[in-house]
Amino acid sequence: MSEPLLSETIRGLTKEIERLPGHTLFGRVSAIQGMLVEIGGILGQLSVGDRCRVIARDQRRVPCEVVGFAEGKTLLMPFEPLDGIGLGARVEVADADPVLYPADGWLGRVVNAFGDPVDGGPPLPAGERAYAIRGRPPPAHTRQRVGGKLDLGVRVINTFLTCCKGQRMGIFAGSGVGKSTVLSMMTRHTTADVIVLGLVGERGREAREFIEDDLGEEGMRRAVVVVATSDETPLMRRQAAYTTLAVAEYFRDQGKEVLCLMDSVTRFAMAQREISLSAGEPPASKGYTPTVFAELPRLLERAGPGRIGQGSITGLFTVLVEGDDHNEPVSDAVRGILDGHIVLDRAIAERGRYPAVNVLRSVSRTMPDCNSEPENQLVDRARRLMATFEDMSELIRLGAYRSGSNAEVDQAIHYQPGLDDFLSQRKDDATSLADGYRRLAGLLDLDDPNLDDPTAPPTGAADG
Ligand SMILES: Nc1ncnc2c1ncn2[C@@H]1O[C@H](COP(=O)(O)OP(=O)(O)O)[C@@H](O)[C@H]1O
Ligand SMILES: [Mg+2]
Repeated sequence: MSEPLLSETIRGLTKEIERLPGHTLFGRVSAIQGMLVEIGGILGQLSVGDRCRVIARDQRRVPCEVVGFAEGKTLLMPFEPLDGIGLGARVEVADADPVLYPADGWLGRVVNAFGDPVDGGPPLPAGERAYAIRGRPPPAHTRQRVGGKLDLGVRVINTFLTCCKGQRMGIFAGSGVGKSTVLSMMTRHTTADVIVLGLVGERGREAREFIEDDLGEEGMRRAVVVVATSDETPLMRRQAAYTTLAVAEYFRDQGKEVLCLMDSVTRFAMAQREISLSAGEPPASKGYTPTVFAELPRLLERAGPGRIGQGSITGLFTVLVEGDDHNEPVSDAVRGILDGHIVLDRAIAERGRYPAVNVLRSVSRTMPDCNSEPENQLVDRARRLMATFEDMSELIRLGAYRSGSNAEVDQAIHYQPGLDDFLSQRKDDATSLADGYRRLAGLLDLDDPNLDDPTAPPTGAADG
Protein backbone atom coordinates (compact mmCIF):
# COMPACT_ATOMS: atom_id res chain seq x y z
CA MET A 1 0.00 0.00 0.00
CA SER A 2 1.38 3.43 -0.92
CA GLU A 3 2.21 5.94 1.80
CA PRO A 4 -0.62 8.45 1.11
CA LEU A 5 -3.14 5.64 0.76
CA LEU A 6 -2.00 4.17 4.07
CA SER A 7 -2.32 7.42 5.95
CA GLU A 8 -5.70 7.96 4.29
CA THR A 9 -6.78 4.54 5.56
CA ILE A 10 -5.52 5.26 9.04
CA ARG A 11 -7.31 8.56 9.10
CA GLY A 12 -10.49 6.80 7.99
CA LEU A 13 -10.10 4.17 10.69
CA THR A 14 -9.50 6.78 13.37
CA LYS A 15 -12.69 8.48 12.30
CA GLU A 16 -14.55 5.17 12.49
CA ILE A 17 -13.17 4.51 15.97
CA GLU A 18 -14.21 7.95 17.11
CA ARG A 19 -17.74 7.12 16.09
CA LEU A 20 -17.80 3.72 17.78
CA PRO A 21 -20.25 3.29 20.65
CA GLY A 22 -18.55 2.99 24.00
CA HIS A 23 -15.88 5.48 23.02
CA THR A 24 -16.99 8.02 25.56
CA LEU A 25 -17.25 11.60 24.53
CA PHE A 26 -18.99 13.86 26.95
CA GLY A 27 -20.90 17.07 26.79
CA ARG A 28 -23.00 18.97 29.28
CA VAL A 29 -26.58 20.17 29.15
CA SER A 30 -26.52 23.96 28.89
CA ALA A 31 -30.24 24.70 28.42
CA ILE A 32 -33.61 22.96 28.17
CA GLN A 33 -36.53 24.56 26.36
CA GLY A 34 -39.67 22.46 26.12
CA MET A 35 -38.62 19.27 24.37
CA LEU A 36 -35.31 20.72 23.25
CA VAL A 37 -32.04 20.07 25.08
CA GLU A 38 -29.02 22.25 24.26
CA ILE A 39 -25.58 20.88 24.89
CA GLY A 40 -22.09 22.24 24.58
CA GLY A 41 -18.71 20.58 24.51
CA ILE A 42 -18.81 17.91 21.78
CA LEU A 43 -19.92 20.03 18.93
CA GLY A 44 -17.52 18.94 16.21
CA GLN A 45 -18.24 15.27 16.84
CA LEU A 46 -21.94 15.25 16.08
CA SER A 47 -24.18 15.52 13.08
CA VAL A 48 -27.93 15.53 12.63
CA GLY A 49 -29.47 12.13 13.35
CA ASP A 50 -26.69 11.05 15.75
CA ARG A 51 -27.62 9.58 19.10
CA CYS A 52 -26.67 10.73 22.59
CA ARG A 53 -27.65 9.72 26.10
CA VAL A 54 -28.34 12.31 28.75
CA ILE A 55 -27.71 11.05 32.26
CA ALA A 56 -30.47 11.93 34.71
CA ARG A 57 -30.02 12.54 38.41
CA ASP A 58 -31.03 8.94 39.20
CA GLN A 59 -28.46 7.68 36.62
CA ARG A 60 -31.27 6.86 34.15
CA ARG A 61 -29.93 7.31 30.64
CA VAL A 62 -32.34 9.18 28.41
CA PRO A 63 -31.70 8.45 24.74
CA CYS A 64 -31.73 11.57 22.56
CA GLU A 65 -31.20 12.43 18.92
CA VAL A 66 -29.41 15.40 17.42
CA VAL A 67 -32.04 17.45 15.61
CA GLY A 68 -30.08 20.59 14.81
CA PHE A 69 -27.48 23.18 15.71
CA ALA A 70 -27.92 26.81 16.62
CA GLU A 71 -25.62 29.57 17.83
CA GLY A 72 -22.77 27.24 18.66
CA LYS A 73 -24.95 24.72 20.49
CA THR A 74 -26.05 21.20 19.63
CA LEU A 75 -29.84 20.68 19.86
CA LEU A 76 -31.12 17.31 21.07
CA MET A 77 -34.59 15.86 21.44
CA PRO A 78 -35.32 13.06 23.89
CA PHE A 79 -36.98 9.69 23.19
CA GLU A 80 -38.24 9.64 26.76
CA PRO A 81 -39.50 12.25 29.22
CA LEU A 82 -36.85 14.62 30.55
CA ASP A 83 -37.69 14.14 34.23
CA GLY A 84 -34.63 14.37 36.44
CA ILE A 85 -32.46 16.17 33.90
CA GLY A 86 -31.01 19.53 34.84
CA LEU A 87 -28.35 21.98 33.77
CA GLY A 88 -24.91 20.48 33.64
CA ALA A 89 -26.18 16.91 33.25
CA ARG A 90 -23.67 14.73 31.43
CA VAL A 91 -24.32 13.79 27.82
CA GLU A 92 -22.55 10.84 26.24
CA VAL A 93 -22.36 10.14 22.54
CA ALA A 94 -24.00 6.85 21.55
CA ASP A 95 -23.88 4.78 18.36
CA ALA A 96 -24.07 6.90 15.27
CA ASP A 97 -26.29 4.78 13.07
CA PRO A 98 -28.92 2.97 15.14
CA VAL A 99 -29.63 -0.58 14.04
CA LEU A 100 -31.89 -3.52 14.84
CA TYR A 101 -31.16 -7.25 14.69
CA PRO A 102 -34.52 -8.73 13.67
CA ALA A 103 -34.99 -12.50 13.59
CA ASP A 104 -37.74 -14.99 12.73
CA GLY A 105 -38.38 -15.32 16.46
CA TRP A 106 -39.91 -11.82 16.42
CA LEU A 107 -43.08 -13.23 14.85
CA GLY A 108 -46.01 -13.09 17.20
CA ARG A 109 -44.41 -10.34 19.27
CA VAL A 110 -45.13 -6.68 20.01
CA VAL A 111 -42.13 -4.34 20.12
CA ASN A 112 -41.54 -0.63 20.67
CA ALA A 113 -39.71 1.81 18.43
CA PHE A 114 -36.35 0.45 19.65
CA GLY A 115 -37.33 -3.13 18.84
CA ASP A 116 -37.62 -4.00 22.54
CA PRO A 117 -40.51 -6.29 23.49
CA VAL A 118 -43.47 -4.60 25.17
CA ASP A 119 -45.79 -7.60 25.37
CA GLY A 120 -44.49 -8.92 28.68
CA GLY A 121 -42.90 -11.90 26.89
CA PRO A 122 -39.31 -13.19 27.05
CA PRO A 123 -36.40 -11.24 25.48
CA LEU A 124 -36.30 -11.32 21.71
CA PRO A 125 -33.76 -13.39 19.80
CA ALA A 126 -31.19 -11.30 17.91
CA GLY A 127 -30.64 -11.96 14.22
CA GLU A 128 -27.21 -12.00 12.56
CA ARG A 129 -27.48 -8.96 10.36
CA ALA A 130 -27.85 -5.38 11.46
CA TYR A 131 -30.70 -3.46 9.86
CA ALA A 132 -30.45 0.32 9.94
CA ILE A 133 -33.56 1.77 11.50
CA ARG A 134 -33.47 4.45 8.84
CA GLY A 135 -32.61 2.09 6.02
CA ARG A 136 -32.71 2.98 2.38
CA PRO A 137 -34.67 1.24 -0.35
CA PRO A 138 -32.69 -0.81 -2.88
CA PRO A 139 -31.61 1.39 -5.84
CA ALA A 140 -34.47 1.59 -8.33
CA HIS A 141 -32.61 -0.22 -11.12
CA THR A 142 -31.87 -3.27 -8.94
CA ARG A 143 -35.47 -3.69 -7.88
CA GLN A 144 -37.78 -6.25 -9.38
CA ARG A 145 -40.94 -5.07 -11.08
CA VAL A 146 -44.17 -5.14 -9.10
CA GLY A 147 -45.19 -8.81 -9.01
CA GLY A 148 -48.39 -10.85 -9.30
CA LYS A 149 -51.51 -10.25 -7.27
CA LEU A 150 -51.49 -10.40 -3.52
CA ASP A 151 -54.64 -11.75 -1.90
CA LEU A 152 -55.50 -9.30 0.88
CA GLY A 153 -58.55 -11.23 2.00
CA VAL A 154 -60.87 -8.22 1.65
CA ARG A 155 -63.30 -8.80 -1.22
CA VAL A 156 -63.87 -5.21 -2.35
CA ILE A 157 -60.11 -4.53 -2.47
CA ASN A 158 -59.22 -7.88 -4.05
CA THR A 159 -61.62 -7.40 -6.97
CA PHE A 160 -61.92 -3.64 -7.53
CA LEU A 161 -58.57 -2.39 -6.20
CA THR A 162 -56.35 -5.40 -6.72
CA CYS A 163 -52.99 -4.98 -5.06
CA CYS A 164 -49.84 -6.51 -6.52
CA LYS A 165 -46.83 -7.79 -4.62
CA GLY A 166 -44.58 -4.83 -3.91
CA GLN A 167 -47.31 -2.25 -4.51
CA ARG A 168 -47.85 0.67 -2.13
CA MET A 169 -51.37 1.83 -1.39
CA GLY A 170 -52.92 4.40 0.91
CA ILE A 171 -56.14 3.95 2.85
CA PHE A 172 -57.70 7.38 3.26
CA ALA A 173 -60.47 8.08 5.75
CA GLY A 174 -61.68 10.26 8.57
CA SER A 175 -61.60 8.89 12.09
CA GLY A 176 -63.95 6.06 12.99
CA VAL A 177 -64.73 5.08 9.40
CA GLY A 178 -63.05 1.70 9.66
CA LYS A 179 -59.35 2.03 8.74
CA SER A 180 -58.06 -0.05 11.61
CA THR A 181 -60.71 -2.69 11.06
CA VAL A 182 -59.70 -3.11 7.42
CA LEU A 183 -56.08 -3.56 8.50
CA SER A 184 -57.06 -6.20 11.04
CA MET A 185 -59.05 -8.07 8.36
CA MET A 186 -56.00 -8.05 6.09
CA THR A 187 -53.73 -9.25 8.88
CA ARG A 188 -55.93 -12.25 9.50
CA HIS A 189 -57.01 -13.12 5.97
CA THR A 190 -54.13 -12.23 3.60
CA THR A 191 -52.04 -14.91 1.93
CA ALA A 192 -48.81 -12.91 2.53
CA ASP A 193 -46.12 -14.84 4.44
CA VAL A 194 -45.45 -12.22 7.08
CA ILE A 195 -47.29 -9.14 8.28
CA VAL A 196 -45.40 -6.26 9.90
CA LEU A 197 -47.82 -3.83 11.45
CA GLY A 198 -46.82 -0.39 12.71
CA LEU A 199 -49.23 1.28 15.13
CA VAL A 200 -48.00 4.85 15.16
CA GLY A 201 -49.48 7.46 17.48
CA GLU A 202 -52.73 5.66 18.34
CA ARG A 203 -54.18 5.97 21.81
CA GLY A 204 -52.88 3.28 24.16
CA ARG A 205 -56.31 1.75 24.69
CA GLU A 206 -56.92 1.53 20.94
CA ALA A 207 -53.59 -0.14 20.29
CA ARG A 208 -54.23 -2.64 23.04
CA GLU A 209 -57.75 -3.47 21.87
CA PHE A 210 -56.48 -3.81 18.35
CA ILE A 211 -53.78 -6.29 19.31
CA GLU A 212 -55.84 -8.31 21.76
CA ASP A 213 -59.31 -8.28 20.19
CA ASP A 214 -58.96 -7.55 16.49
CA LEU A 215 -55.78 -9.49 15.73
CA GLY A 216 -56.04 -12.08 18.46
CA GLU A 217 -53.78 -15.10 18.50
CA GLU A 218 -54.66 -16.01 14.93
CA GLY A 219 -53.66 -12.60 13.56
CA MET A 220 -50.46 -12.42 15.62
CA ARG A 221 -49.14 -15.83 14.56
CA ARG A 222 -47.33 -14.53 11.48
CA ALA A 223 -47.16 -10.87 12.47
CA VAL A 224 -44.76 -8.51 14.19
CA VAL A 225 -46.39 -5.41 15.69
CA VAL A 226 -44.39 -2.23 16.27
CA VAL A 227 -46.18 0.21 18.50
CA ALA A 228 -45.68 3.79 19.72
CA THR A 229 -48.77 5.25 21.35
CA SER A 230 -49.88 8.88 21.33
CA ASP A 231 -48.46 9.54 24.81
CA GLU A 232 -44.93 8.67 23.68
CA THR A 233 -42.50 11.36 22.52
CA PRO A 234 -42.53 12.46 18.88
CA LEU A 235 -39.13 10.82 18.35
CA MET A 236 -40.54 7.46 19.51
CA ARG A 237 -43.59 7.83 17.28
CA ARG A 238 -41.49 8.75 14.27
CA GLN A 239 -39.01 5.96 14.91
CA ALA A 240 -41.81 3.38 15.26
CA ALA A 241 -42.53 4.01 11.58
CA TYR A 242 -38.86 3.53 10.64
CA THR A 243 -38.61 0.38 12.77
CA THR A 244 -41.71 -1.08 11.09
CA LEU A 245 -39.99 -0.78 7.73
CA ALA A 246 -36.68 -2.13 9.06
CA VAL A 247 -38.40 -5.28 10.34
CA ALA A 248 -40.23 -5.64 7.03
CA GLU A 249 -36.88 -5.33 5.21
CA TYR A 250 -35.47 -8.19 7.25
CA PHE A 251 -38.29 -10.54 6.25
CA ARG A 252 -38.10 -9.34 2.63
CA ASP A 253 -34.43 -10.31 2.58
CA GLN A 254 -35.44 -13.78 3.82
CA GLY A 255 -37.40 -14.12 0.57
CA LYS A 256 -40.77 -13.59 2.19
CA GLU A 257 -43.81 -11.85 0.78
CA VAL A 258 -44.24 -9.19 3.42
CA LEU A 259 -47.38 -7.18 3.98
CA CYS A 260 -46.39 -3.96 5.76
CA LEU A 261 -49.30 -2.11 7.32
CA MET A 262 -49.02 1.26 9.00
CA ASP A 263 -51.70 3.00 11.04
CA SER A 264 -51.17 5.88 10.47
CA VAL A 265 -48.79 7.78 8.22
CA THR A 266 -50.53 10.97 9.32
CA ARG A 267 -49.34 10.43 12.90
CA PHE A 268 -45.83 9.88 11.54
CA ALA A 269 -46.08 13.19 9.69
CA MET A 270 -47.39 14.89 12.83
CA ALA A 271 -44.49 13.51 14.87
CA GLN A 272 -42.01 14.83 12.30
CA ARG A 273 -43.83 18.16 12.39
CA GLU A 274 -43.42 18.38 16.18
CA ILE A 275 -39.74 17.54 15.89
CA SER A 276 -39.08 20.08 13.14
CA LEU A 277 -41.01 22.89 14.81
CA SER A 278 -39.18 22.30 18.10
CA ALA A 279 -35.86 22.47 16.28
CA GLY A 280 -36.88 25.82 14.83
CA GLU A 281 -37.77 24.86 11.27
CA PRO A 282 -40.34 27.29 9.85
CA PRO A 283 -43.70 25.74 8.97
CA ALA A 284 -44.91 25.64 5.40
CA SER A 285 -48.25 24.04 4.62
CA LYS A 286 -50.82 23.83 7.50
CA GLY A 287 -48.02 23.93 10.02
CA TYR A 288 -46.23 21.02 8.37
CA THR A 289 -42.57 21.74 7.75
CA PRO A 290 -40.66 21.06 4.52
CA THR A 291 -38.89 18.18 6.28
CA VAL A 292 -42.20 16.37 6.66
CA PHE A 293 -42.63 16.29 2.90
CA ALA A 294 -39.01 15.19 2.42
CA GLU A 295 -39.36 12.37 4.98
CA LEU A 296 -42.63 10.95 3.63
CA PRO A 297 -41.19 9.58 0.38
CA ARG A 298 -38.05 8.37 2.20
CA LEU A 299 -40.28 6.30 4.46
CA LEU A 300 -42.82 5.05 1.94
CA GLU A 301 -40.27 4.20 -0.76
CA ARG A 302 -38.79 1.58 1.55
CA ALA A 303 -41.84 -0.55 0.81
CA GLY A 304 -41.87 -2.05 -2.66
CA PRO A 305 -40.32 -4.94 -4.54
CA GLY A 306 -36.96 -6.27 -3.36
CA ARG A 307 -33.93 -7.07 -5.49
CA ILE A 308 -33.95 -10.15 -7.70
CA GLY A 309 -34.14 -13.20 -5.44
CA GLN A 310 -35.60 -11.32 -2.51
CA GLY A 311 -39.20 -11.12 -1.45
CA SER A 312 -41.16 -7.91 -1.56
CA ILE A 313 -42.81 -5.46 0.79
CA THR A 314 -46.37 -4.64 -0.11
CA GLY A 315 -47.31 -1.52 1.82
CA LEU A 316 -50.72 -0.33 2.95
CA PHE A 317 -50.59 2.95 4.81
CA THR A 318 -53.55 4.63 6.43
CA VAL A 319 -53.97 8.35 6.13
CA LEU A 320 -56.22 10.14 8.57
CA VAL A 321 -58.20 12.67 6.61
CA GLU A 322 -58.90 15.43 9.12
CA GLY A 323 -62.39 16.82 8.88
CA ASP A 324 -62.89 14.47 5.90
CA ASP A 325 -60.87 16.96 3.83
CA HIS A 326 -59.19 14.75 1.25
CA ASN A 327 -57.06 17.64 -0.01
CA GLU A 328 -55.14 18.37 3.15
CA PRO A 329 -51.36 18.46 2.62
CA VAL A 330 -50.36 15.06 4.03
CA SER A 331 -53.08 13.27 2.02
CA ASP A 332 -51.98 15.11 -1.09
CA ALA A 333 -48.32 14.27 -0.58
CA VAL A 334 -48.97 10.61 0.22
CA ARG A 335 -51.34 10.18 -2.71
CA GLY A 336 -48.60 11.40 -5.01
CA ILE A 337 -46.03 8.92 -3.70
CA LEU A 338 -48.16 5.76 -3.69
CA ASP A 339 -49.42 3.46 -6.44
CA GLY A 340 -53.05 3.79 -5.54
CA HIS A 341 -55.54 4.90 -2.95
CA ILE A 342 -58.45 3.31 -1.18
CA VAL A 343 -60.99 5.85 0.01
CA LEU A 344 -63.27 4.99 2.91
CA ASP A 345 -66.41 7.08 2.96
CA ARG A 346 -68.22 8.19 6.09
CA ALA A 347 -71.57 8.27 4.28
CA ILE A 348 -71.16 4.59 3.33
CA ALA A 349 -70.21 3.64 6.89
CA GLU A 350 -73.24 5.52 8.19
CA ARG A 351 -75.42 3.43 5.89
CA GLY A 352 -73.91 0.42 7.66
CA ARG A 353 -71.89 -0.99 4.76
CA TYR A 354 -68.45 -2.12 5.93
CA PRO A 355 -65.70 -1.97 4.76
CA ALA A 356 -66.90 1.49 3.70
CA VAL A 357 -64.77 1.61 0.53
CA ASN A 358 -65.91 4.11 -2.06
CA VAL A 359 -64.98 2.09 -5.14
CA LEU A 360 -65.60 4.91 -7.58
CA ARG A 361 -63.20 7.28 -5.83
CA SER A 362 -60.49 4.68 -5.27
CA VAL A 363 -57.90 3.39 -7.69
CA SER A 364 -55.15 0.79 -7.91
CA ARG A 365 -52.71 1.97 -10.55
CA THR A 366 -51.22 -1.46 -11.18
CA MET A 367 -54.51 -3.35 -11.46
CA PRO A 368 -55.27 -3.02 -15.17
CA ASP A 369 -51.88 -4.53 -16.05
CA CYS A 370 -52.01 -7.44 -13.64
CA ASN A 371 -55.56 -8.46 -14.54
CA SER A 372 -56.44 -10.79 -17.38
CA GLU A 373 -58.67 -9.31 -20.09
CA PRO A 374 -61.81 -11.11 -18.85
CA GLU A 375 -61.09 -9.92 -15.30
CA ASN A 376 -60.76 -6.31 -16.47
CA GLN A 377 -64.01 -6.61 -18.42
CA LEU A 378 -65.84 -7.99 -15.42
CA VAL A 379 -64.55 -5.31 -13.07
CA ASP A 380 -65.24 -2.52 -15.60
CA ARG A 381 -68.78 -3.78 -16.07
CA ALA A 382 -69.43 -3.72 -12.33
CA ARG A 383 -67.84 -0.27 -11.96
CA ARG A 384 -70.00 1.12 -14.77
CA LEU A 385 -73.15 -0.21 -13.13
CA MET A 386 -72.14 1.37 -9.83
CA ALA A 387 -71.31 4.70 -11.51
CA THR A 388 -74.63 4.76 -13.33
CA PHE A 389 -76.49 4.01 -10.12
CA GLU A 390 -74.62 6.75 -8.31
CA ASP A 391 -75.33 9.30 -11.05
CA MET A 392 -79.01 8.49 -10.93
CA SER A 393 -79.34 7.79 -7.22
CA GLU A 394 -80.94 11.10 -6.40
CA LEU A 395 -83.65 10.66 -9.03
CA ILE A 396 -84.18 7.03 -8.14
CA ARG A 397 -84.56 7.84 -4.45
CA LEU A 398 -87.05 10.61 -5.22
CA GLY A 399 -89.02 8.20 -7.34
CA ALA A 400 -88.49 10.49 -10.33
CA TYR A 401 -86.98 7.78 -12.52
CA ARG A 402 -89.48 5.73 -14.51
CA SER A 403 -88.25 2.20 -15.06
CA GLY A 404 -87.95 1.30 -18.72
CA SER A 405 -86.72 4.76 -19.79
CA ASN A 406 -83.08 3.68 -20.03
CA ALA A 407 -81.81 0.12 -20.27
CA GLU A 408 -78.46 0.85 -18.59
CA VAL A 409 -80.12 2.56 -15.63
CA ASP A 410 -82.60 -0.30 -15.32
CA GLN A 411 -79.72 -2.74 -15.12
CA ALA A 412 -77.88 -0.57 -12.59
CA ILE A 413 -80.98 -0.59 -10.40
CA HIS A 414 -81.45 -4.31 -10.88
CA TYR A 415 -77.90 -5.23 -9.87
CA GLN A 416 -77.48 -2.62 -7.13
CA PRO A 417 -78.59 -4.72 -4.12
CA GLY A 418 -76.36 -7.62 -5.21
CA LEU A 419 -73.35 -5.34 -5.68
CA ASP A 420 -73.94 -3.66 -2.33
CA ASP A 421 -74.05 -7.06 -0.70
CA PHE A 422 -70.87 -8.08 -2.54
CA LEU A 423 -69.00 -5.00 -1.27
CA SER A 424 -69.82 -5.60 2.37
CA GLN A 425 -67.86 -8.11 4.38
CA ARG A 426 -68.00 -9.00 8.03
CA LYS A 427 -64.73 -8.72 9.97
CA ASP A 428 -64.31 -12.46 10.48
CA ASP A 429 -65.48 -13.44 7.00
CA ALA A 430 -62.47 -14.64 4.98
CA THR A 431 -62.58 -14.52 1.19
CA SER A 432 -60.11 -15.24 -1.59
CA LEU A 433 -59.23 -13.52 -4.86
CA ALA A 434 -60.74 -16.33 -6.96
CA ASP A 435 -63.86 -16.41 -4.82
CA GLY A 436 -64.33 -12.66 -5.38
CA TYR A 437 -64.26 -12.93 -9.18
CA ARG A 438 -66.51 -15.97 -9.21
CA ARG A 439 -69.05 -14.33 -6.94
CA LEU A 440 -69.03 -11.04 -8.86
CA ALA A 441 -69.46 -12.82 -12.19
CA GLY A 442 -72.28 -14.92 -10.74
CA LEU A 443 -74.20 -11.95 -9.47
CA LEU A 444 -73.86 -10.06 -12.77
CA ASP A 445 -74.95 -13.16 -14.73
CA LEU A 446 -71.57 -13.33 -16.50
CA ASP A 447 -68.98 -16.09 -16.87
CA ASP A 448 -66.33 -16.52 -14.18
CA PRO A 449 -63.25 -14.85 -15.76
CA ASN A 450 -60.96 -17.48 -14.29
CA LEU A 451 -62.84 -20.49 -15.64
CA ASP A 452 -60.86 -20.81 -18.85
CA ASP A 453 -57.66 -19.21 -17.64
CA PRO A 454 -55.24 -22.08 -17.03
CA THR A 455 -52.89 -19.89 -14.94
CA ALA A 456 -55.61 -18.89 -12.49
CA PRO A 457 -55.82 -20.70 -9.18
CA PRO A 458 -58.58 -23.32 -9.18
CA THR A 459 -61.81 -21.64 -8.19
CA GLY A 460 -63.20 -22.83 -4.92
CA ALA A 461 -59.75 -23.86 -3.71
CA ALA A 462 -59.20 -21.04 -1.29
CA ASP A 463 -62.70 -20.56 -0.01
CA GLY A 464 -62.31 -19.31 3.52
N1 LIG B 1 -66.06 -4.62 8.69
C1 LIG B 1 -66.76 -4.05 9.69
N2 LIG B 1 -67.86 -4.65 10.16
C2 LIG B 1 -68.60 -4.09 11.12
N3 LIG B 1 -68.31 -2.92 11.73
C3 LIG B 1 -67.21 -2.27 11.34
C4 LIG B 1 -66.39 -2.80 10.30
N4 LIG B 1 -65.38 -1.93 10.11
C5 LIG B 1 -65.56 -0.92 10.98
N5 LIG B 1 -66.66 -1.12 11.73
C6 LIG B 1 -67.20 -0.20 12.78
O1 LIG B 1 -66.57 1.08 12.70
C7 LIG B 1 -65.97 1.43 13.93
C8 LIG B 1 -64.69 2.22 13.73
O2 LIG B 1 -63.74 1.43 13.04
P1 LIG B 1 -62.17 1.66 13.17
O3 LIG B 1 -61.55 0.61 12.33
O4 LIG B 1 -61.74 1.73 14.58
O5 LIG B 1 -62.04 3.10 12.50
P2 LIG B 1 -60.76 4.02 12.31
O6 LIG B 1 -59.54 3.18 12.49
O7 LIG B 1 -60.88 4.56 10.93
O8 LIG B 1 -60.86 5.10 13.33
C9 LIG B 1 -65.76 0.10 14.64
O9 LIG B 1 -65.77 0.22 16.02
C10 LIG B 1 -66.93 -0.73 14.16
O10 LIG B 1 -68.06 -0.48 14.93
MG1 LIG C 1 -58.02 3.47 13.89
